[in-house]
Amino acid sequence: MKLTIDGRSIEAQEGQTVLDAARANGIYIPALCYHPRTGKAGRCRACVVEIEGVRGLKESCATPAREGMVVHTDTPRVMETRRTVVELLLADGHHNCLSCQASGDCELQRMAYMLGIERPGLLFDVPPEPLDESSEGIVREADKCIQCGRCVTACQNTVVNRVLAFGYRGHHARVIADDDKPLGESSCVLCGECVQVCPVGALTFTGPRKARIRPSETTATKVTCPYCGVGCQIDFHVKDNRYVYSEATETAWERQPNKGMLCVKGRFGLDFVDSPERLRSPLVRKDGKLVEASWDEALDLVASKLKTVQEAHGTDALGFFSSAKVTNEENYALQRLARVVFGTNNIDHCARL
Ligand code: SF4
Ligand code: SF4
Ligand code: SF4
Ligand code: FES
Repeated sequence: MKLTIDGRSIEAQEGQTVLDAARANGIYIPALCYHPRTGKAGRCRACVVEIEGVRGLKESCATPAREGMVVHTDTPRVMETRRTVVELLLADGHHNCLSCQASGDCELQRMAYMLGIERPGLLFDVPPEPLDESSEGIVREADKCIQCGRCVTACQNTVVNRVLAFGYRGHHARVIADDDKPLGESSCVLCGECVQVCPVGALTFTGPRKARIRPSETTATKVTCPYCGVGCQIDFHVKDNRYVYSEATETAWERQPNKGMLCVKGRFGLDFVDSPERLRSPLVRKDGKLVEASWDEALDLVASKLKTVQEAHGTDALGFFSSAKVTNEENYALQRLARVVFGTNNIDHCARL
């Protein structure tokens, strides 16, 4: 179907919202409560647009694109509404972009910047909230929470861990973990999906925060998680050639095997790459002690031991175990070694166990 956004004729697919269609065509409409993985929530009104022939402003995240629609994303009425949204959110918390871990990667900050808001025009007397640093991997700053609900939907419906929920009522409503426990004492499994979808600095990762490295300072390379056979696609964030943190790849996330999510291993288990304890050469045992050896020496030793067993007890005394943590090609090569070189079918794979 064809519709017009800000004077541009664009193509949209059946099932797309006005927001989807705009974003697919590089037109910026802010969205604070909507995220592609958590869906529309209709909580923030950051995404409002004007549609010709329709009364009032419409939330573009919840309005299906229709043939012939004429949409305006930047009229004075739209901008004034967005300005009010940002002003109220800034006033209803404690936002200090100068020291915020999310600065440069924050959707509220970007919105304020696009609207030319230099400082909050409203000031509410909101009591400060304590920082929750109880979790090994995640820091919660309730002072910066805009109650968009993305983390709650992500935890409840996307990863189905059901740790986060909205608790209390009215003005006291807030995101809580289990029955309002510190995150580190809750049933959180540290998948990190809530952090990945949080639009602001209310949920951040402990590692980069301690290292004083903001997401906007890192460069990301797409890698495949080495931990299991799912093959999750990870954006591996690096600064000065050192690992900083991992995020599930957002680009084309629907087509990734992990659908934009990670488990605790992919999320927090890749810092080994810079570990000084990492083995960088093979070890062989000499006089009861493991000592570094060349690859040639190590491979010759393994080959001679295998041959000794084969000659003494027959080929079927040998068994080969392969791993889901290596590539299919490496697994294939190992079964060829077992079957063709040694002549045994004693070959198995940890993913089957
Ligand atoms: S959460 Fe966003 S708006 Fe709030 S202080 Fe951090 S960067 Fe600024
Ligand atoms: S890390 Fe995962 S399990 Fe823990 S609160 Fe966030 S989404 Fe829920
Ligand atoms: S913690 Fe983040 S994702 Fe969750 S409601 Fe607050 S701002 Fe939204
Ligand atoms: S993003 Fe549309 S209402 Fe929040």
